Amino acid sequence: MSIAPTDRPLITHYPGIQHAISHVSLGSLPTPVERLQTLEQVLGVSDTRLYVKRDDLSGRPYGGNKVRKLEFLLARAAQQGYKEVLTFGGAGSNHALATGLYARQMGLQSISMLIPQPNAQGVRTNLLMSLHAGIELHQSPGMLRTALDSLKQVGLHKLRTGQFPYLIAPGGTSALGMVGFVNAAFELKEQIDHGELPEPDLIYAASGTMGTVVGLLLGLKAAGLKAKVAAVRVTEAQFSSERKAARLFRSTARLLHRADPAFPLLPFPAEDFLFVHDFYGEAYGLYTPEAMEAVRLLNDTSGLHLEGTYTGKTFAALLADVKANRLENKSALFWNTHNSQDFSGEIAGMDYHDLPAEFYRYFEEPVQPLDLLPH
Ligand SMILES: Cc1ncc(COP(=O)(O)O)c(C=O)c1O
Repeated sequence: MSIAPTDRPLITHYPGIQHAISHVSLGSLPTPVERLQTLEQVLGVSDTRLYVKRDDLSGRPYGGNKVRKLEFLLARAAQQGYKEVLTFGGAGSNHALATGLYARQMGLQSISMLIPQPNAQGVRTNLLMSLHAGIELHQSPGMLRTALDSLKQVGLHKLRTGQFPYLIAPGGTSALGMVGFVNAAFELKEQIDHGELPEPDLIYAASGTMGTVVGLLLGLKAAGLKAKVAAVRVTEAQFSSERKAARLFRSTARLLHRADPAFPLLPFPAEDFLFVHDFYGEAYGLYTPEAMEAVRLLNDTSGLHLEGTYTGKTFAALLADVKANRLENKSALFWNTHNSQDFSGEIAGMDYHDLPAEFYRYFEEPVQPLDLLPH
């Protein structure tokens, strides 16, 4: 497949990137920025400005944060002649589903190696949608078994097709995938320059495997923006830590600097990285009352739909800062990383028995109680 030159602002700023790093335009970018005026009124804050970056509209067939990373990851897979990709996630992984959907668009097959997570309606939807998309699904009981089972699948696929699948890290978080979020910060800079929003003081985003928050941080600093990133931890500390943030920041900066020496080798700006731990709750994928309250409030005031695993916890962190007057005279941007494409049409009438048997339990066991309340 031919991979055409693109108009992504990072590449326009650093043309060397185009020759060194493959890119394919999969997303509908730039995504819009909107002011949350009704929410400001409901919260009674006249001196705080609240905005949302609508990455929920980032692409078809799947919105959310993943397509930005996949533009670089899948471009490399295709350029290197791979026919299949293999990636990892929780049973209801948005990343694994997005990877499969965009891979299919590029003529590639995909394999998802999944681990169990708390049950939710979104898990069911993503599993059925994965089936609909022809993604090969496997679930293993934990990380170690996933690693072993992945080796087995890689070997089996090599035997069957003569070629190994291209491996994509959990969440698409590698230096290459994160280039998509460095670009996102340059996209935001253009929107600020065009007067679509004032320069934010703080940007709130979920920290799952950290590619989103750290890619943004690097892009913001390279673009000369003052914004700090409030990275709201939604995964266990082994996936989301300050050490990992610094490591990812440096490796992505190095990749871009090698591609175009004009890209700066910046030190990790620890003072601009606010790591927020208080909204995680008890486990990954387990909703919290504050997150579901935040989901409801944003829905009532703006019609936007969040969920309880990532964006609800993140928005709850923003609301807590508003209520504690930490955003007085400030402008805050909520980065909405959740897909808003509706799949009810595609999955209507599908039978979960067509999934591998290890996934039946998500349909036979109840969803977590907080997922049943109206939101
Ligand atoms: C909706 C949503 N928001 C945020 C994230 C976290 O992004 P990252 O893994 O880059 O930290 C994910 C990751 O799967 C996600 O699905």
